Amino acid sequence: MNYEKAVEAAEFIRSKYTKEIKAAVVLGSGLGAFADEVENAVIIPYEQIPHFSRSTVEGHAGRLVLGEVGGISIAVQQGRFHYYEGYEIEQVVFPVRAFRVLGVKNLILTNAAGSVNTDFPQGSLMLIRDHINLTGINPLRGRNDERFGVRFPDMTEIYALDYQEIVINEARQMAQEKAARREAETNQKQTVNYFLRRGIYCGLIGPSYETPAEVRMLRLLGTDALGMSTVAEAIAARHVGMKVIGISCITNMAAGISDDIIHHEEVMETGAKVAATFKELLRRVVARIGF
Ligand code: HPA
Repeated sequence: MNYEKAVEAAEFIRSKYTKEIKAAVVLGSGLGAFADEVENAVIIPYEQIPHFSRSTVEGHAGRLVLGEVGGISIAVQQGRFHYYEGYEIEQVVFPVRAFRVLGVKNLILTNAAGSVNTDFPQGSLMLIRDHINLTGINPLRGRNDERFGVRFPDMTEIYALDYQEIVINEARQMAQEKAARREAETNQKQTVNYFLRRGIYCGLIGPSYETPAEVRMLRLLGTDALGMSTVAEAIAARHVGMKVIGISCITNMAAGISDDIIHHEEVMETGAKVAATFKELLRRVVARIGF
């Protein structure tokens, strides 16, 4: 847990972008399009940033995009590091620590996830209420550096409750506005499509998808959606005192929940289909938390 390395990375980023960054956004598989929303963008490939690793997964661009969305300065991680790629867990959470040294107080984690809950269909979004870390690893393992945070950080409210309210309200408004627009266009009563669910994300190591038996077990444990990222970054962010939002894009039903088999292309395709909704929600949430 090398504080000095995080300082070097932060100083490099600061040398390219001097504005105060209000929030960092980590874009999951197939969700990279939000980076196109960033205005006056300064783009830094990961390989240029000291101590950053490279992204190896298809659908993860591997670059940091700094700029403004709705006039608010943000840092967008277009592509993240997964433990299954072979990185040490410290490398996976390194950007979070660099962001903290930069003074970033808010972190929005997004991911692609498989649904275990039949009420959470493909193409819906899930606000992460809480998580279950079943990766078998913790990013805080090893000697603790007090400059980052305490040895035994509390995780009672790992995903900030007041921010959860904001995401829920913005999603509700978006759904209602969309229905009202359609009503005005068609002159017909429209039902509101509330696309946001709220649930428990279970983090697994991957990269193989789960077996149906594992999915049944995880359902019994209280999982609504599962994936291969997010939990380590959320823990590291809470350790350094950042406030965290987690949003999953439900890209597929988990193994055995439907008869379909799962493939990465489907995950990417669903991400592309919900991109417009996802981008608008992120834009609105950034505007609310980035004051
Ligand atoms: N399982 C694990 N991770 C995932 C899935 C899944 O079904 N879909 C997208 N990421």
